[in-house]
Amino acid sequence: MADHNKPVSGHERIETNNFLMIVLILVAVAVGGLVEIVPLFFQRSTTQAAPGVKPYTALQLAGRDIYIREGCYNCHSQMIRPLRAETLRYGAFSKAGEFVYDHPFQWGSKRTGPDLHRVGGRYSDEWHRIHLTQPRDLVPESNMPAYPWLASATIDPASMEPRMKALRTLGVPYSDADIAGAAEAVKGKTEMEALIAYLQGLGRTTP
Ligand code: HEC
Repeated sequence: MADHNKPVSGHERIETNNFLMIVLILVAVAVGGLVEIVPLFFQRSTTQAAPGVKPYTALQLAGRDIYIREGCYNCHSQMIRPLRAETLRYGAFSKAGEFVYDHPFQWGSKRTGPDLHRVGGRYSDEWHRIHLTQPRDLVPESNMPAYPWLASATIDPASMEPRMKALRTLGVPYSDADIAGAAEAVKGKTEMEALIAYLQGLGRTTP
């Protein structure tokens, strides 16, 4: 209760005025948010590639686009959190600098299946081929869908140049030679081969 003998303090005026309170809370939250978020746009650890991180090869890039097209991210995350249970299961936790060439990121939080950030090199190409064709041939209790058509569809070589040029405008350092050689690199390759090349490259950059 206000003491009517005392003059109304500035703080009391704020606390007893709904509108002023709401506006000042929003200002406080906005300033706090900016202080946390803005530095991330300028820090080396979040804006520069981690050591060993290279842009996707043309084949891996084609595979990444199939990963997105098929909605693999609906069941798989690519972000290992710095918690012991996660690092024991999946390997070293993910760092921001490992994703600087990912447009868009495939982080996710939905894990119907395991995190895939460090799946590269864990299985053979042949394992992936069988698994993608029919997951239950390898993991009987799996509820992952089968993707048999990937083995017969081929990558359109002409589509690679515009994809890589688009990524270059976003800062991925593809050279003219990379882009000129892209069509040749994916010629005759199946979508299955591209997706496996992408999976095998995931997360292999950090020791
Ligand atoms: C409906 C959910 C679902 C979708 C969609 C899905 N997966 Fe899976 N995935 C799973 C589950 C569950 C497992 C674990 C059982 C298994 O290995 O099959 C798994 C396992 C995997 C594994 C093995 C991971 C490991 O560490 O053992 C890979 C690789 C994989 N999925 C890739 C993919 C790719 C690539 C796609 C898209 C083409 C995809 N998944 C789509 C549910 C899904």
